[in-house]
Amino acid sequence: MKTTFLSALMLRGLVVGVALAGLFGCRGEPSSKPPVHLNPNMDTQDKYKPYRTSAFFEDGRAMRTPPANTVPYGRVAAEGFQDPMMLGADDALHLGYASIGADGQPQWVETIPLEPSMAMLERGQQRYGIYCAPCHDNAGGGKGPVTMRDWPLPIPSYHEDRLRQMSVGEIYKAITYGVNNNNMPSYAQQIGVADRWAIVAYVRALQLSQQMLAGQ
Ligand code: HEC
Repeated sequence: MKTTFLSALMLRGLVVGVALAGLFGCRGEPSSKPPVHLNPNMDTQDKYKPYRTSAFFEDGRAMRTPPANTVPYGRVAAEGFQDPMMLGADDALHLGYASIGADGQPQWVETIPLEPSMAMLERGQQRYGIYCAPCHDNAGGGKGPVTMRDWPLPIPSYHEDRLRQMSVGEIYKAITYGVNNNNMPSYAQQIGVADRWAIVAYVRALQLSQQMLAGQ
């Protein structure tokens, strides 16, 4: 008898306790501290997020206007042509075009945006031998050693009219962005900007010399 009374009392106490805890228990002062976070992993840290306010700056904005001539990182310079240099400030030099035409297409430059020199041509010849000749062959005929194997794609000759009429910017484009959905891959990672132009100069030289040989 006594035990049931006691346990009933305890049960009641428990129910009331839980109810009270539910009502008041968790309502402490609101805290600005993050909730218990066992492995913080630098998840919470002081930082500004876009469009937030800042008490530090006079205008109260966390976002700042970039200084003049800032070049955005990883900008998309034109549809489908991500700037491979990311921080290239001189468009003609880095991108191979400096403006977009009315058709929305890049206007590929017509002259090499570097001072031409014999040293540049020699460098271009050497780099061409390393990076291009395996496919395009030493004379640019498109019959490089890879074609002796199981090579699946036709490689154009630099000496066909279409490629002869290409602007230097378009040859730079082939090296920088690749050709035809990676039928020829981009060599932007392997070949620096100055070397790309040196190769372009050499390809042009190959075209001219072959034209001479053909007496055209
Ligand atoms: C792995 C083989 C390979 C290598 C290496 C290679 N190319 Fe190509 N290249 C191709 C193929 C294949 C095409 C034709 C792609 C197509 O039209 O589908 C091509 C096309 C081109 C074109 C014509 C682009 C066009 O718009 O039609 C140029 C210019 C060119 N390559 C230049 C170069 C230069 C310069 C190098 C060295 C930096 C180089 N290629 C390295 C395989 C290669």
